[in-house]
Amino acid sequence: MERSNYNGLLSIKDVNKEVTLLGWVAKKRNLGSLVFIDLRDTTGIVQVTVRDDVKIPDIRNEYVIQVKGTVAKKDVPNKALKTGEIEVVAKEIKVINKAETTPMIIDDNTDALEDTRLKYRYLDLRRPIMQSRLKTRAKIVKAVHEYLDEHNFLEVETPILTLSTPEGARDYLVPSRLHRGCFYALPQSPQVYKQLLMIGGIERYYQIAKCFRDEDLRADRQPDFTQIDIETSFLDQDELLTLNEGLLHKIFKDVINYDIKLPLRRMSYAEAVDTYGSDKPDTRFDMKLIDVKDILKDSTFNAFKELSTIKCIVVHGIANSTSRKVIDNLQLEAKKFSLKGYTVLKFINNKLDGSFTKFLDENVSKSLIDKLKLVNDDIVIIAGSNEYRDVCFGLGALRVSYANTLGLIKPNTYDLLWVVDFPLFEKSKETGGITSSHHPFTRPLESDVKYLDSDPLKVKAGAYDIVINGYEAGGGSLRIYDQDMQRKIFKLLGLSDEDIKRKFGFFIDAFNYGTPPHAGIAYGLERLTMVLSGTNNIRDVIAFPKNLAAVCPMSNSPREVDQDQLDELGLIIKKENK
Ligand code: AMO
Repeated sequence: MERSNYNGLLSIKDVNKEVTLLGWVAKKRNLGSLVFIDLRDTTGIVQVTVRDDVKIPDIRNEYVIQVKGTVAKKDVPNKALKTGEIEVVAKEIKVINKAETTPMIIDDNTDALEDTRLKYRYLDLRRPIMQSRLKTRAKIVKAVHEYLDEHNFLEVETPILTLSTPEGARDYLVPSRLHRGCFYALPQSPQVYKQLLMIGGIERYYQIAKCFRDEDLRADRQPDFTQIDIETSFLDQDELLTLNEGLLHKIFKDVINYDIKLPLRRMSYAEAVDTYGSDKPDTRFDMKLIDVKDILKDSTFNAFKELSTIKCIVVHGIANSTSRKVIDNLQLEAKKFSLKGYTVLKFINNKLDGSFTKFLDENVSKSLIDKLKLVNDDIVIIAGSNEYRDVCFGLGALRVSYANTLGLIKPNTYDLLWVVDFPLFEKSKETGGITSSHHPFTRPLESDVKYLDSDPLKVKAGAYDIVINGYEAGGGSLRIYDQDMQRKIFKLLGLSDEDIKRKFGFFIDAFNYGTPPHAGIAYGLERLTMVLSGTNNIRDVIAFPKNLAAVCPMSNSPREVDQDQLDELGLIIKKENK
């Protein structure tokens, strides 16, 4: 179809040019002798001006039209538009296709509910902000291809109909017609395959990989999402992280022209939890967790004498100025995060204030003021428990909530760090036994192998996460490459010999034929795109996402299938939960 230029790319340099444009009518204003049309295409919007000597067909919003005309400088530029210095004076307008009245306003400032946006996603995608997010996503992928190609990585695809890969979520299962009663699992990640590729001698693998996890959805989780998946042979942790820092640098530079400072900071898991109350600390603001057990054990509040952990955070500048309501709301948040032994002190007129002060004598108060370096208008939020992790993670969540509510985080700032030395195992809330913190293929740190039998929860792993602005944007580990160690870890995780053989027999067998030491990482492509396009909603960076109930409101999937299909698969649906 005839087109000379893209609308959003026209500029003052094109003045006097004869152009033929295509696009959708974003807005039409009729001023009698003049009609203004905002014409939108994938690059943006340009204003088309139609004088009364030009025949204008019946056009409405979202009609697809072709415009022939001349680019002219506008007398008064429109600062809201990138092309606002110019307009296109129409000579001819042709309707290519009509549109019904749309069920939502197609504008960056639409007031449509998210489910409406998802139901009519093809209309939502016409909004420039949505296109810009998809472009950001595509630019990230382009940078990844370029960088990894330059560094001798080979892109290899792995199966989608496959076997279960243990990443801690439930599998999506696909029934086999040919093998009645048997199921494929969709990959939670390509983990097992990428390790087999290392045994297969590929040495440097990557893939933009679709992953599927049946787990509770959140603002940063989808049931099907995409990883930038990487695996390498013969690199130690430092070498791998450095290689990845180069990748991150290129992504930030190419996509938002931002220079991240290398090398990135590395923080141990233990420090992250102790100081920020999170394994994905947002270090763009301070408000660290401070241990006050030593001081508050001397308060007259009996419960505090017995607790093993008492910590606090200090929020500056709000004791007086922030309304009671805001502080009360934030205190409600504390309840949400199940913080126990929770109390708030204010520091006003150089004195601690609040009902808890009755438990603090002068010495204790002074020690607290000194240790916390309190200044007027601070509030101190204290939590105590015998469960160290509850105190840390509770205060950590509160810390982020305060920072967001009080606007403590500067927009367009990026803070990247590696969190390293994760525990190899964690206690399972469900079974009371142990589960892998990362996945069962993660190598324990050499120095900690000796604790595997006596105190497995003490063992640290060669595992690392890349944390950006408080998001876990990626994670990986050094892998076990010795069959006996792999078998031992499976056993510690409670798998019997029979289970190991049935689930991972082929994998363990492969280790017998010369397995190189290997290590890898996977980034959440959506999480990276969220950070780089400044949204905190993962659905904003996916063309056709599911809502929080794991439903696609547009296609209405998942849905029931025909009885014939069930019969063919030999499946009977039990309506009630057992
Ligand atoms: P992990 O399970 O940590 O590691 O996943 C890697 C990264 O993928 C992203 N991610 C998600 N993004 C959106 N929705 C989800 N449901 C979701 N789950 C995970 C996160 C996370 O950091 N095989 C290992 C990697 C390895 O060891 O190399 C793995 O999948 O950004």
